[in-house]
Formats: sequence, structure tokens, C-alpha cells
Amino acid sequence: MPTTSSQLLQARYRRDMEPPAQWNDVLTTLLSHRSVRSYLPAPLPAGTLETIVAAAQSAPSSSNLQTWSVVAVEDADRKARLAELAGGQKHVRAAPLFLVWLADLARLEDIARRQGVDAAALGHLEYFILSVVDTALAAQNALTALESLGMGGVFIGGIRNHPEKVAAELRLPSHVLPVFGLCVGYPDKAVATDVKPRLPQQAVLHHESYSAENAAPAIAAYDVSMRAFQREQAMEPIDWSRQAAGRIERLGSRVRMAEAVRNLGFPLR
Ligand SMILES: Cc1cc2nc3c(=O)[nH]c(=O)nc-3n(C[C@H](O)[C@H](O)[C@H](O)COP(=O)(O)O)c2cc1C
Repeated sequence: MPTTSSQLLQARYRRDMEPPAQWNDVLTTLLSHRSVRSYLPAPLPAGTLETIVAAAQSAPSSSNLQTWSVVAVEDADRKARLAELAGGQKHVRAAPLFLVWLADLARLEDIARRQGVDAAALGHLEYFILSVVDTALAAQNALTALESLGMGGVFIGGIRNHPEKVAAELRLPSHVLPVFGLCVGYPDKAVATDVKPRLPQQAVLHHESYSAENAAPAIAAYDVSMRAFQREQAMEPIDWSRQAAGRIERLGSRVRMAEAVRNLGFPLR
């Protein structure tokens, strides 16, 4: 298990990196991230949920409008139904806690009505983007917080396979969209997980202006790193670029996302 800064950077990029100029425990937590899909059945200590939500609420929020909410699901039957809606993902059922992160404009809609203000602007794409961004920032803070406490988790975009059914299951009002879920639990150490490599920085980091020049060699190098990772994890080897292309080809039920989002009260004007 990589623990030093050099080991963590090596694991993330699968190449020797310059020793970092600065380092601390926050960076250790961030660079140690790996999605965890196998959990001990043990419930989480009392107060964990509230601590995680405090971390989430500490994320920046556009104009401090705080346009998100989260539903904490612990009921086994409800988790099982959500697991099915997410494409039969067993880890949703197995996790002691499943958090559903919501882009929530219902609160602002209500405030506008009480203040006697026209709420039409909330129907614009801008507010949709704003609330989805707020939601993602909050949820990522929650994930980092729980990882720093020795727990593990994985985001579940699968709940967007059937947004309206998830909304019905959670009794969401109009103007509230389930964006993704987050399984939370203590990792089952019997199931090994490892740090998944990322694209070389040459592919994602641009100086002063965007340049696609380095993308192709960086992606080719990443295909090699990911194949090594897959071999170690006893996974079917496939180039990451092939896998990415496959995802683009097969959007599945999410081709109707714009319709689903509109049905849930976001006109996207
Ligand atoms: C918004 C979002 C949705 C995701 N949805 C799923 C999902 O439905 N099921 C799953 O097993 N993993 C899901 N993941 C986890 C990614 O597959 C994972 O983060 C990625 O492969 C990188 O691996 P790592 O998190 O271990 O570094 C999701 C991640 C994000 C950010």
C-alpha cells in the first residue's frame, strides 16, 4: 500500500515523479483515493452521517445559494430497489449507508414565492448547471471526509439510468434532480482495491492556453498504465481509449436525460 508522497504519486501516474515540494495529510488522503465497492456489514458509528454532511456543507457554493440536498438511505429494502434502478449494482445494497445527492432548486423556488419574486429564472440552464456543480463539490467533500476517517465509498451515476423512478422512490418534489449516489461503509480488506492510475498531466494540464499537442502520446502512455493496472486487478485487459470510446457509443437509457431532467422540473431554457 503506497503511503509516502513519492509512492502515492508513483501509484497515480505509474512513473517516477519529482519529489513534491510540499506535502501534508490532506494530500495523502486525496492521492490515496480509490473507489471501494466491498464493505463490512458493520453500521457506521453514531454521528458519522452528520460529520460527513458538515464536511459537504463546508464546500464552496455558488453565491452561497446551497442548491443541493442529500437523502441518507439505510433501509435495506429501499437500498435494494435503488440498487436495481442503478443497473443491479450489488454494492448499493451492501453498503450500510447510501447517500443520494440532489441538485435542489425547490428551496429557492419556495423562497422566491415567499418573497414575492418571479422564479422564472430558475428554469434557465444556468441554474441547472449551478446546482449540479454545487452538488458535486459537496459530495466530493463528503467522500474525502469519509476516506480521511478510514471509510470508503463509490459514487453511483447509475441512479441516472431512471431519474424519474429514483425521484418517486425518494419522494422528491419538482425542481429536485438525483445527480448520483454514494455508497459508504468500512472497506472489506479481504477484497483488495488499488489506486487507479490517471492520465499523464500532459493530457490535462495546459499552460496559458489550451494545446492538444501532447494529448495523443499521453493517451497512448495511459493505455499502457491502465493495462498494467487491469492485469494486477485480474481484470480483462482493454485500452482505456477503447473503453472510453465504448462508453461514448453506448449511452443506454441516458439518451433521454434532457427529457428526464425536464420532467423533474428543470425546463433548461
Ligand atoms: C459521478 C460518478 C459516477 C460514478 N458512477 C459509478 C457507478 O454507477 N458504479 C460504479 O461502480 N462506479 C461509479 N463511479 C466510480 C468510477 O468508476 C471511478 O471513480 C473511476 O473508475 C476511477 O476509479 P477510482 O475512483 O477508484 O480512482 C462513478 C464516479 C463518478 C465520479
